[in-house]
Amino acid sequence: MSQRKIFVTTALPYANGKFHVGHIMEYIQADIWVRFQRMQGHMVHFVGADDAHGAPIMIAAEKAGKTPQQFVGEIAAGRQEYLDGFHIRFDNWHSTDSAENTELAQGIYRKLKAGGMIATRTIEQFYDPVKGMFLPDRYIKGECPVCHAKDQYGDACEVCSSVYSPTELISPYSTLTGATPELRSSEHFFFKLSDPKVVDFLKSWTQDGKLQPEMAKKASEWFEAGMADWDISREAPYFGIEIPDAPGKYFYVWLDAPVGYLASLKNHFDKGQAANHWHEPSRTAQGFDDFVADPAVEQVHFIGKDIVYFHTLFWPAMLQFSGRKTPSQVNVHGFITVSGEKMSKSRGTGIDPLKYLSIGMNPEWLRYYIAAKLNAKVEDVDFNPDDFIARVNADLIGKYINIASRAAGFIAKRFGGKLGAVSADGAALLTALQAASAPMQALYDGRDYARALREIMGLADKVNEYVDQNKPWELAKKEGMEARLHDVCSTCIEAFRLLTIYLKPVLPALAAEVEAFLASGPLLFADAARLLGAGHEIRDYKHLMQRVDAKQLDQLFEAPEPAAAPAAATELPGGEGIAPTITIDDFAKIDLRIARIVACQKVEGSTKLLHLTLDAGEGRTRNVFSGIASVYQPEQLVGKLTVLVANLAPRKMKFGISEGMVLAASHADEKANPGIHVLEPWPGATPGMRVR
Ligand code: MSP
Ligand code: ZN
Repeated sequence: MSQRKIFVTTALPYANGKFHVGHIMEYIQADIWVRFQRMQGHMVHFVGADDAHGAPIMIAAEKAGKTPQQFVGEIAAGRQEYLDGFHIRFDNWHSTDSAENTELAQGIYRKLKAGGMIATRTIEQFYDPVKGMFLPDRYIKGECPVCHAKDQYGDACEVCSSVYSPTELISPYSTLTGATPELRSSEHFFFKLSDPKVVDFLKSWTQDGKLQPEMAKKASEWFEAGMADWDISREAPYFGIEIPDAPGKYFYVWLDAPVGYLASLKNHFDKGQAANHWHEPSRTAQGFDDFVADPAVEQVHFIGKDIVYFHTLFWPAMLQFSGRKTPSQVNVHGFITVSGEKMSKSRGTGIDPLKYLSIGMNPEWLRYYIAAKLNAKVEDVDFNPDDFIARVNADLIGKYINIASRAAGFIAKRFGGKLGAVSADGAALLTALQAASAPMQALYDGRDYARALREIMGLADKVNEYVDQNKPWELAKKEGMEARLHDVCSTCIEAFRLLTIYLKPVLPALAAEVEAFLASGPLLFADAARLLGAGHEIRDYKHLMQRVDAKQLDQLFEAPEPAAAPAAATELPGGEGIAPTITIDDFAKIDLRIARIVACQKVEGSTKLLHLTLDAGEGRTRNVFSGIASVYQPEQLVGKLTVLVANLAPRKMKFGISEGMVLAASHADEKANPGIHVLEPWPGATPGMRVR
């Protein structure tokens, strides 16, 4: 088999959040594939990077009071803990906010431009006059033009699911400042994807075996719908890469993000690490430019189903029309759900990868479980706690680990740690196991890990049947059965070694322990053709893997301790801790308005309530019942301004309908610390102004 040269990547995670289990699943899928290729003696460079650029990261950094560089740097610093924790071994981790990426992205753009692939067009977009920036759709909200639900995002309504453009929203506002956005025009750059040259190229590129069949089908549906040119520019202020010869204009983040694959590889080469993975020391390692241009190099991307458009249309087209090599495979996986529930990108999921590790759960249980559920199709993978326990305890430990634990003791105690000769029935079993090597390699190469593990467990079943037929624990007690005991236990150890070869891509740390136990040296796939043989000395067996305890899963899914509110440590003067953190979007949901108290009366039959009549600049007044009668006389309040929660659902009370609430300060323990203090704005505020 000739040596393959493979360049492997996983999607570059946005650098505004920690890894969630969806990322970990993708990395486990790719890491297994990479380890498998290396076990066949192929040469692999496996790189990742943070996707640092774009408006959301710029805005999040600003909110956190940091520069974008600081902000993404802090996220990047936390990456290694997850990767090491789950035995995910990238050769390099870099960032799209790097010199390499700037140079490569600008270079690709220059080539596209020189090839006539860039068009300019003036477009109108919403602009936030307060913030001084053009607004991405997700920062615009307003009333749905179809169902009139309030506070819907600029691109789609969450209530009626209609999609529209932000300009169709009724009374749009910027979620950044609340300002009414203005339409402004600016010149944008477009990659001419609708050019027949590009369409023809993509039509054949997507249909010639580089994609999974269901993805190829998706692509042809997209072509039928028609290809639109792709807007690749954004106006300053933007955290990104400047467009050459276009002051104040930046590449849209999705232009430079995939270029980050190349940037991380270049960084890897420049650090001089790339040669380390070269299995033929006699050949000189190529430089980065030669390597990426080498027709023999396979470029393989692992991505999730939500970013297929970018990777199967934009990215190959960018590479092709800038005179570069295009990807060899784009492998798309589904999403991980937890007990059938989708996790949102922003909320993450019930499984916190670091918590999983910190409560002592074995990372290889998760690798095994995820692998057991992954195939080459774009299907979601469900993490189900009961299924997890069953697969790990019954299959991995019950079927595989048990083989070694049942045989190793006898080899050590009775035969001085040396393996003996294997007789005909044992040899037949081992031959059957060895014969699985070639099909197993095809399954791993084709990413059908679920099937590979099913086959391996089927083989383990055969070995366990052999153990049950021969009962070494009984042989050990019978006189004259010494040779048979040695034969049976040696067969088990040889079988265990073969199964370990097949499991090694999934369970690298466990395999390393087995290699030490068997004194076998690092196991490669080719080693399945040989056995350790009679006379080989193994080392003492130490228990290799614990069972999952159902309690650990309870702990994993236990709600996190509420973030220690300051009140827990130091008693706040207000008598209660700070409530859980909300986002600015959460806050923006509360519509606070300045209101004038135009009238105020005592409420007959209530000692607590005052009946306020408020003018919030709406051309009508509102009735609000407020529990402040114990501290204010009506005449103290009439004519004053205060703050009204204007979008609180009206509440029917014994005395009438209350159409909102006025804001007042009080201590949590009103009995011990009486006093209610209605809020009053500083001079200058007028009824109807929004408080934000
Ligand atoms: N930054 C872009 C990718 C740029 S690639 C040049 C991005 N980042 S992401 O952090 O949102 O997602 C990174 C990867 O995680 C994507 O492949 C995405 O599909 C994957 N996943 C996100 N949620 C997931 C699950 N719930 N399950 C499995 N994978 C998931 O998109
Ligand atoms: Zn709607």
